[in-house]
Amino acid sequence: MKMHPCNKRTTRREETFPLDSNRPMVENGNNTKTAPVAPGGHSQRRKNQMGITDTDKEILKRAIRGFSSLRVLIIGDIIIDHFIWGTVERISPEAPVPVVNVTRENLLLGGAANVLNNIKALGGEAEICGVVGDDVMGDHLLGMLEKLKIPADGVFRVSGRPTTKKTRIIAQSQQVVRVDREETSPFPADLVPGFKDYLEKKIHDVDAVVVSDYNKGMITAGVMDIVRETVRKHKAVPVICDPKPEDIQRFAGVTLITPNNHEAELMSGVRIRTLEDLDRAAAAIMGRLAPRALLITRGEAGMALYDDSGEVMTIPTQAREVYDVTGAGDTVIATIGLALAGGLSFAQASILANHAAGIVVGKVGTATASNAELMEKIQ
Ligand SMILES: Nc1ncnc2c1ncn2[C@@H]1O[C@H](COP(=O)(O)OP(=O)(O)OP(=O)(O)O)[C@@H](O)[C@H]1O
Ligand SMILES: [Mg+2]
Repeated sequence: MKMHPCNKRTTRREETFPLDSNRPMVENGNNTKTAPVAPGGHSQRRKNQMGITDTDKEILKRAIRGFSSLRVLIIGDIIIDHFIWGTVERISPEAPVPVVNVTRENLLLGGAANVLNNIKALGGEAEICGVVGDDVMGDHLLGMLEKLKIPADGVFRVSGRPTTKKTRIIAQSQQVVRVDREETSPFPADLVPGFKDYLEKKIHDVDAVVVSDYNKGMITAGVMDIVRETVRKHKAVPVICDPKPEDIQRFAGVTLITPNNHEAELMSGVRIRTLEDLDRAAAAIMGRLAPRALLITRGEAGMALYDDSGEVMTIPTQAREVYDVTGAGDTVIATIGLALAGGLSFAQASILANHAAGIVVGKVGTATASNAELMEKIQ
């Protein structure tokens, strides 16, 4: 099922983003080449995004300025990232393990809630829907949302289920151990009607839905059915999914899917070694799930965008320095969410997301890109 005509704003000819036009692009210094015929039977035309014109820049900058008037709903697995920092001076007499003297600790929004951090940093409005436990960490999460003035009506509390928390203990700049508290059972069936009511109301207030799956139970096939149905019946906003490769049929028919290279391999069953493998993997995923578009993020190799016309655009990374790639995927989906909400094309949205990811991998820790930083990158 098709959900959303993403290129919803038809631009005048002179405003048309060249990356969407059929102008010849170059790849590795050669002329545009035609990729082998994909398993779907169509020949994929490969374009390589090599720099953008002043007109393109104006369109992207206008979109970034418009982020403040857009609201994105994130549905996904809410995680609390707990960091404990300390020093180690001795080995425990009880067992051959280091004794960490704690100097500092903090609790941060993680998982789907880190997408929320990214959207806020980019200047957009965001709301979150997911599950927490009826526990102290659940209270803390709600407190954090309140501080950020984010409505919590989409946060479902489940008694007996712990709020997902990942504790990392770090001493002398090294992670000593990670301790996870979680339960990954599916979103409880008795909460499904409440979720449906919530979404049917909320959809009218938002410009895009981002699905952030961390395999912790929120994103069930039933939840995705409700997302599709609500968007079809009530408001045709784009639905963008950052998937985990299990039970991929859950993601059928959404607007855009953004797996990383490894997830794309698992989703397609194709081992990706060459660009031709990448095309085959993409064709397999497009064939099975029929999204409007598929964006495979490829770490230091950047991204590849496939659309349903069989066109592919490769986008080299914009990162100049790489310190920490943690959370780059969250930055990608947050930026794409805002960009598609604002009416940019898939190509334009992917280029912006690639710039935003290039900014965060140059920072230490799970970082975000600000609206001003992204604007500066496009100058
Ligand atoms: N090592 C790197 N060098 C340069 N750019 C990078 C690197 N890693 C990530 N990026 C940028 O970040 C984007 C997303 O990264 P990646 O493909 O690793 O996503 P991911 O595996 O989903 O990330 P996450 O670990 O957050 O889930 C890439 O498309 C690229 O633009
Ligand atoms: Mg990811």
